[in-house]
Amino acid sequence: MSLKGKNYYIDAAKRAMKWHEENINKMKACRFDTIAVHGIYSMQESLDFNQGSIIEPMYMSTSQAYRDSDEMEAALAYEVPTWCYSRIGNPSMYYLEGVLALIESYGTGLDASCCATSSGMAAIASAADNLLCFDPDKPDQKMNFVATCQVYGGTFQQFAIRKHQEKNIEWRQVINSADISEWESLIDEDTRFLYGEMPSNPGQAFFDLEKICELAKKHNLPVIVDATVASPALMRPLAFGADIVVQSVTKSLSTSGFGIGGAVIAKKNIRARYGSDLMKADFAMYLKALPNRDNGPNISPMNAILAVNDIRTLRSRMDRLSRSTLKIAKYLKQHKHIEQVDYLGLESHPLHELAKKYMVLVDSEYDEQYGGQKVNRYGHLMSFRVKGSAQDTRDVFDAFGMIWRATDLGRIKSVATIPAISTHSQQGEEGRRLADIPPTLIRLCIGGEHPDDIIADIEQALAVLDGKKISKSTPEYSAGGASSALLGW
Ligand SMILES: Cc1ncc(COP(=O)(O)O)c(C=O)c1O
Repeated sequence: MSLKGKNYYIDAAKRAMKWHEENINKMKACRFDTIAVHGIYSMQESLDFNQGSIIEPMYMSTSQAYRDSDEMEAALAYEVPTWCYSRIGNPSMYYLEGVLALIESYGTGLDASCCATSSGMAAIASAADNLLCFDPDKPDQKMNFVATCQVYGGTFQQFAIRKHQEKNIEWRQVINSADISEWESLIDEDTRFLYGEMPSNPGQAFFDLEKICELAKKHNLPVIVDATVASPALMRPLAFGADIVVQSVTKSLSTSGFGIGGAVIAKKNIRARYGSDLMKADFAMYLKALPNRDNGPNISPMNAILAVNDIRTLRSRMDRLSRSTLKIAKYLKQHKHIEQVDYLGLESHPLHELAKKYMVLVDSEYDEQYGGQKVNRYGHLMSFRVKGSAQDTRDVFDAFGMIWRATDLGRIKSVATIPAISTHSQQGEEGRRLADIPPTLIRLCIGGEHPDDIIADIEQALAVLDGKKISKSTPEYSAGGASSALLGW
C-alpha cells in the first residue's frame, strides 16, 4: 500500500515548479546571449539533481521511474511535471525546448512554449496537421491552407504531395508573397491557417508579416512562419503577430552539423477557427503531450543536447556570418560571370527595404561595437545565378575546392548546392518556375571561414568560364530527375 498518497507528489511538484518558474522569470529578464548560454538550466537544478554538472546532462534513458503507484498515477495524468517516456519528453529535450521558447519570444513580453521534433519537416507537419481540424458541422468539407509557393523543397513535397494530392487538403499557393491582396483572395471559410517561409530557401522571398497577421486576425486564422533561414538571432516572428514559428533546428541553430532536429514554438492562446480549447490555449504543449505522444515525431535526447550546445553562440555567430555573406554577395554582384545575386542584404534587392524592418541583429543596440545602434543583418544564405547554361553552372560548382557540395545549410563550413538538381528537384519544372529556381542558380550558405578565402575559392571556380563559349542552349528550367531516381524518391 502506498504510504504517501498522490497529494504528497502534487505538493512537492508545486514547490519544484515554483523555483523552476522563478528561474525562468529570472532568465527572461536577461539579454539574449545570456539566455542562449544558460537556457533554463539553473545552478539549483545542477547541484540538487545533476551532481553539479555545469553542462546540461544528456539523459540517455527511454523512461522515468516512479517512487510508487501514487506518483505514477499523478504523473501519467499530467498532474505533476513528468517526462514519463522519451517519445513524449525527456529532461534533455526540455532544456532545448526551454531555451528555444525563451529566445523565440525574446523581447515580445509574450509567453511561449516549444515542442522539439526529430527534424524541421516533423515540426512543419506537427504544426500544420494539427491545425487541419474539422468543422464539426461540416464533416465532409474540403479544407485548405494558404501558403507561399517559395518554400524549401521538402516543404513543397509535404504540402503538394502528402497533403494536397494524397489527402485532398488543398494547398492554395501564394505566388507573389509580397502582394497582400493575393493572400486575401485565397482565403475562404474552409481555410485553416496561413503559412509563409521568410526569408525563403533558396529564393529569399519575403513578405510583410505584420500585414499578413492583420489579415489573419480579420479571418480568425493562425499564422505559421518558417523562420529557419533568419534564426531567432535575426528575426522573431512572434514579435510581429505570428502565432507559431517552425524551425529546422538542424540549420543555423545547430551549426556544428552533428544532428537533425526541429521545433514548433507557439505563443499562448493562438487564433484558430476550429480545434479544442486546450489546443488553442497552449499549442506547443498540446502537441507535445497529446498528438506527438501518439504520433511519435519528437526529438531524441542526444540531438537535443547537441543543439543546446550550439545555440549558446547563436547571436555572435549570425552577426559574423551575415557580415561575411554580405561581403561575398557584393563581390559576386560585380563579377562578369554572374547574372544575378539574391541576397536580402544587398541594397539593390527589391525586398531589401522590407527585410530591413524585420531582420535586425538582436540586442545590437547593447553591443558597444555598434555604438548603441540597432543594426540589420540578413543571415548567411544567399544564391547567385551563373551567366550561361545549366552545364556552365555545374562546371563552376564542380570547381569549388573549399566550399562543400552538399544539400545542407546553416553549417560552420561554407556549403553550396544547385537546388534544381537537389533540394528542389522533386517539385518539377513548373514548381521551380513558380518558385523562381532556374538550373543556373547556386545556393551558397557561408560558414565561419574568412570571407576572403571563400571569395578566392569562388574566383577560381568562376575562372573555368573564362574563354569558354557560354552557351544558353539548355532550356531555362530543366533539371533533376536523375538524382531523385537514384535515391528512389
Ligand atoms: C527553410 C527550411 N525549413 C525546413 C527545412 C527542413 O528541415 P529538416 O531538414 O531539419 O527536416 C529546411 C531544410 O533544409 C529548410 O531549409
